Amino acid sequence: MSWKRVCSVSDVASNSLKQFDVDGVRVLIANLGEEFKAYPPLCPHMEESLEESGICEDGLMTCSKHLWQWDMRTGEMRGEAEKPLLLYEVKQEGDDVLVNIEKELEYEYDEETEDDDDSFWD
Ligand code: FES
Repeated sequence: MSWKRVCSVSDVASNSLKQFDVDGVRVLIANLGEEFKAYPPLCPHMEESLEESGICEDGLMTCSKHLWQWDMRTGEMRGEAEKPLLLYEVKQEGDDVLVNIEKELEYEYDEETEDDDDSFWD
């Protein structure tokens, strides 16, 4: 178990997302107002940066690329989503937001999609 300080409470505005680098591991922090959550930085669909494409509203995150949605507290799928969001454990100590990084969480991406893209250009 390895708790790392990621940022200060004031670094991430309420209902927004911000990406940080923690010893080479990119972590996306969400401020839900009453608590913080931490996810891998990329959309589980097609590796979009959720800092850029993610929209947070009422505890729901929507990737604006293809409208996959998740419950931000649990990572559960909503709407069009076909994969859940992965979460890191988070705790708050005073003004600091800490994340438990045992190992980097990553999604498995469907390689067929890339093949399809390639064949489009052949
Ligand atoms: S890349 Fe995020 S929904 Fe498709």
